[in-house]
Amino acid sequence: MKILAIESSCDDTSTAVLEDGVVRANVVLSQDELHRPYGGVVPELASRSHMRAILPLVDTALERANTSLEEIEAVVATYGPGLVGSLLVGLNTGKAIAFAQGVPFFGVNHLEGHLLSPLIEGNLSFPYVGLVVSGGHTNLYLAEDYGHYTHLGSTRDDAAGEAFDKVAKLMGLGFPGGKVIDELARQGDPQAITFPRARLKNSGNGRFDFSFSGIKTAVALWLEEHPLDSDSARADLAASFQEAVVDMLLETSFAALEAVGCRHLAIAGGVAANSRLRARAAALSEEHNVQVVIPPMRYCTDNAAMIGFAGWRHLIQGERHDLDLNAVADLPL
Ligand code: KG4
Ligand code: ZN
Repeated sequence: MKILAIESSCDDTSTAVLEDGVVRANVVLSQDELHRPYGGVVPELASRSHMRAILPLVDTALERANTSLEEIEAVVATYGPGLVGSLLVGLNTGKAIAFAQGVPFFGVNHLEGHLLSPLIEGNLSFPYVGLVVSGGHTNLYLAEDYGHYTHLGSTRDDAAGEAFDKVAKLMGLGFPGGKVIDELARQGDPQAITFPRARLKNSGNGRFDFSFSGIKTAVALWLEEHPLDSDSARADLAASFQEAVVDMLLETSFAALEAVGCRHLAIAGGVAANSRLRARAAALSEEHNVQVVIPPMRYCTDNAAMIGFAGWRHLIQGERHDLDLNAVADLPL
């Protein structure tokens, strides 16, 4: 089955073509430059930029996959969660193409796209614990099969990527902050400053929640008393902050693995691009004899390939959505 997939939930416009779950083309247009002067995503600018980009990107994906709309057998698009103005652009484009071509349509949950992304190319099978960690989400799931997901925990405040972005802003490093902090931290000492690690009481009911607002405040307070007057001070702060976030992410994920008796961990979403998270996860994988799978970078940050893959699994079960499907900003998984 040849599928056209569209993703526009936040600030990346992306289109993809998949054939029986195999990615034939995956095109992403980042809006980072557009939002950089504002230090964060401006929703109105994001949706306007999606509108300009979406149709040319559909053409590009079709061209790169060496195919045409006439050969597309189904269309899928993200319908939530995300910024509603952004979601509407990709969703309505997808529905319109499906209608015009007379092919089935399926709306995909963005979080399911991230959660299944390690399966696109990875050597991973169910059951696994999936950590979806991005600018908008920090969620842990037990994935037992396609469509069978148990929510194990979430952030109670900021998403981990949001903490990276906010701390980068506090440090005057620009947007988006994750990549800049990651690079800066390579020159720093992760033990230079001991920031508090939020350890939430899991109250014995199988919840594995996170909290990242405390670390952001701790960095702000630290900055009030310590001017960043050298490259090494900046690098040490970046490395120490990053170490605390990575500790919290991995400690909670490994506690969840232990609790559900699973030996497979998948990490997905933009923050999975973090080099320290990857290195520490690899070390823990050896130590605990747990398989850790992190998709290649192009499937970590927002992309339509993962939406196409998740949508394909639903379509082959005969699932379809009517064309009155609306965008849902806070769609849960
Ligand atoms: O999945 P994604 O592209 O979009 C959302 O759905 O949010 O994730 C973007 C987030 C941003 O917060 C960005 O700062 C973070 O991922 N990020 C990183 C790195 N690269 C991107 N965070 C830490 N280290 C990185 N190397
Ligand atoms: Zn995402």
